[in-house]
Amino acid sequence: MSFVVARDIFQSYGSRPILERVNVEVAEGEFVSIVGASGCGKSTFLRLLLAQERPTRGEIRVAGAEPATEPGLDRGVVFQKYSVFPHMTCRENIVAGESFRTGFGRFGGVKRRAALERADATLARIGLDHVADQYPATLSGGMQQRLAIGQALAAKPRILLLDEPFGALDPGTRLSMHDFLTELRAETAMTVFMVTHDLEEGFKLGDRVLVFDKPRWDPTDPNAYGATITYDFDARDGGIPYQRLTENAHGLRPA
Ligand SMILES: Nc1ncnc2c1ncn2[C@@H]1O[C@H](COP(=O)(O)OP(=O)(O)OP(=O)(O)O)[C@@H](O)[C@H]1O
Ligand SMILES: [Mg+2]
Repeated sequence: MSFVVARDIFQSYGSRPILERVNVEVAEGEFVSIVGASGCGKSTFLRLLLAQERPTRGEIRVAGAEPATEPGLDRGVVFQKYSVFPHMTCRENIVAGESFRTGFGRFGGVKRRAALERADATLARIGLDHVADQYPATLSGGMQQRLAIGQALAAKPRILLLDEPFGALDPGTRLSMHDFLTELRAETAMTVFMVTHDLEEGFKLGDRVLVFDKPRWDPTDPNAYGATITYDFDARDGGIPYQRLTENAHGLRPA
């Protein structure tokens, strides 16, 4: 059974279709890169996976069930910016990330000490132990994104959602973040969905690269139709073979 399933998803805002007939099945542990033109609905798709929104039509299944609506229960998320809490130190941010799973109730004494120790272990893992007591604003962009990923992972999610996580970083920092993410993935066997505008990054990190695009286009009304997955590339082993999806009675399917 596939771990994450999107079945015949339509999403509209008002009368405007954004996504239409999105079908995809993802196995546990797969790394799925998502690319596509600005505004075609990539972040919308991640919000549906996060269950921040419910689709207008169709269904999302995670491990056979509707995704939990509480963030962090089985999915962690990192955005291009502003994923961490600016008023908390790095250590507090990691503890807060874990609280997504355990709840934000007050806890003192032994439990709190244990949580701080776990947070310090996470900070050491992501190379930020030396700035544990600093606030995010004092860190470089790459360090802030490492913190954001560490925070998302502190809740031990089975799925990590990344929305252009490295988009604001310089090329060198970006490359070291690729190594960091690759190592984390090997350690945790988590399933990852990563939106990126960088095709090379998508193919380098992903097992698959999904392309979101509008299969139908009305030149007099560009908003008349929504986007769907038009390509599903196999990116394993640096491979380029791909399946072109074509229209049949059931929507877009492998030819
Ligand atoms: N809550 C909302 N209400 C109305 N329209 C929305 C809402 N959220 C997104 N949209 C519209 O849906 C479309 C898709 O937005 P989305 O953010 O998913 O695109 P995207 O592919 O992530 O783009 P980008 O690459 O620029 O991040 C956009 O035209 C956006 O204006
Ligand atoms: Mg987006």
